[in-house]
Amino acid sequence: MHDLIEALEQKRADARIGGGQARIDSQHAKGKLTARERIQVLLDEGSFEEYDMFVEHRCADFGMEEQKIPGDGVVTGHGTINGRLVYVFSKDFTVFGGSLSRAHAEKIVKVQQAAVRNGAPVIGLFDAGGARIQEGVDSLAGYADIFMENVLSSGVIPQISVIMGPCAGGDVYSPAMTDFIFMVKDTSYMYVTGPDVVKTVTNEEVTHETLGGASVHAKKSGVVDGAFENDIEALTQIRRLIDYLPASNRDKPPIRPVHDAFDRAEASLDTLVPPNPNTPYDMKELITKVVDEGDFFEISPQFGGNILCGFGRIEGSTVGVVANQPMTLAGVLDIDASRKAARFVRFCDCFNIPLVTFVDVPGFMPGTKQEYGGLIKHGAKLLFAYAEATVPKVTVITRKAYGGAYDVMSSKHLRGDVNYAWPTAEIAVMGAKGAVEIIFRKEAGDPEKLAARTKEYETNFANPYVAAKRGYIDDIIMPHNTRKRIANSLRTLKNKSLSNPWKKHDNIPL
Ligand code: HXC
Repeated sequence: MHDLIEALEQKRADARIGGGQARIDSQHAKGKLTARERIQVLLDEGSFEEYDMFVEHRCADFGMEEQKIPGDGVVTGHGTINGRLVYVFSKDFTVFGGSLSRAHAEKIVKVQQAAVRNGAPVIGLFDAGGARIQEGVDSLAGYADIFMENVLSSGVIPQISVIMGPCAGGDVYSPAMTDFIFMVKDTSYMYVTGPDVVKTVTNEEVTHETLGGASVHAKKSGVVDGAFENDIEALTQIRRLIDYLPASNRDKPPIRPVHDAFDRAEASLDTLVPPNPNTPYDMKELITKVVDEGDFFEISPQFGGNILCGFGRIEGSTVGVVANQPMTLAGVLDIDASRKAARFVRFCDCFNIPLVTFVDVPGFMPGTKQEYGGLIKHGAKLLFAYAEATVPKVTVITRKAYGGAYDVMSSKHLRGDVNYAWPTAEIAVMGAKGAVEIIFRKEAGDPEKLAARTKEYETNFANPYVAAKRGYIDDIIMPHNTRKRIANSLRTLKNKSLSNPWKKHDNIPL
């Protein structure tokens, strides 16, 4: 028996060393942790249980039968984050560059399926060279199996991807179908085809970073939801994110003990909105003053900055916050902001996370760039997402709510449950100046008359009372009481029951 135990220990040790010490050293020299080290940082100490440590590839071409490394380039299993179950797979770049063989894919599919059955999130850590070139079509089949599980799991369990090294070819599409993707700055890159192919096909000269680094995807393409300084920061932030999320669509969001009174008044909010309606202010200040202990996990902070999306808590329970940000492009809705917020709203709706929306929006962005880019379809995504969402929806209009954007931003008309406005709110078809220039065009040559008309329009329409008289907002609230009013509303909505008509699935304008 002793021999058998020793043999097992030896086999385990062989598997743990992956592609060998030299490759591990090279991984460290690039500023990256190994697949197993990453899991250690991600999960609670001692909680990781590994599966399929002895799996080997079955390829017999190109001399591969001589090169077998137990585990075959991916470490899989489950563990806990702050005591809650998660499934993990972590690509091991030291083994065939983390490339995907059929056996490697089967390991990933096994944890994906277990996660769905047992109702727990899947976290994938990527650092790999794509398809195992020696395996050919078997590798492509393996990718497709993973993609299939991604799709079936979507909306059932949270799926999170962290790109921590190369991620190319087949490897990019699995993350692309998960709920959130994060990258590590400088050490990771993500693209469908690499710089060499790009040069051949389009004659463009690009580096890994300028083609698919974190600076590209977190800021320009919006493919990823955040970029972190290094492996440790990324993994620590994923732990923080998981704390906000329900384990599956069968669960409610987790509730944390909280030491922040639900009725905490914030006097400073009474002066947050500047007297001049064109002066920006930081909507993030409102968010952090309303949520528990100022703790806000922002999604895509560097992309579509005119809308803020992220998770906070009210009375210990997770809420999804969406807010126009007057500091960037006056908080206008454009293509990027609409796409970003629509996806976030849908995530919250999938996973029973109530939506809190703060509105200060001058409308949709005008211009050929936006129209040619399909603003109509992209803007409709956000409208669609809010309209179909059946989770509790609480809205606070702080200042502008103009035109179609008023309708879109979780208005009463889209089944907003509780819709508040601050006294500074202006709920109207458009701003006073624009409105007067259109309806009193004939008086354009008379600035005095125009000024009087503008004043008249402001008095009659640029306020929350017209909407309040019609019941389109439920109450006009004191800014300092915003947290208390939202918390009270969410209490009343705890047992909300609302469903959409039966359908196979909807047809959101993609
Ligand atoms: C097999 C691979 C591999 C792969 C890397 N390796 N990629 N083995 N299949 N796809 C091996 C290398 O042979 C090497 O082995 C080790 O991993 C490390 O690779 P290096 O090239 O030395 O590392 P580095 O210089 O850091 O470059 C990393 C890299 C590069 C940029 C990822 O390896 C690379 O370009 N790989 C190929 C990428 C690729 O074209 N993949 C196929 C995409 S097509 P040794 O033994 O020397 O350590 C695809 C289609 C799927 O994925 C579509 C499905 C829908």
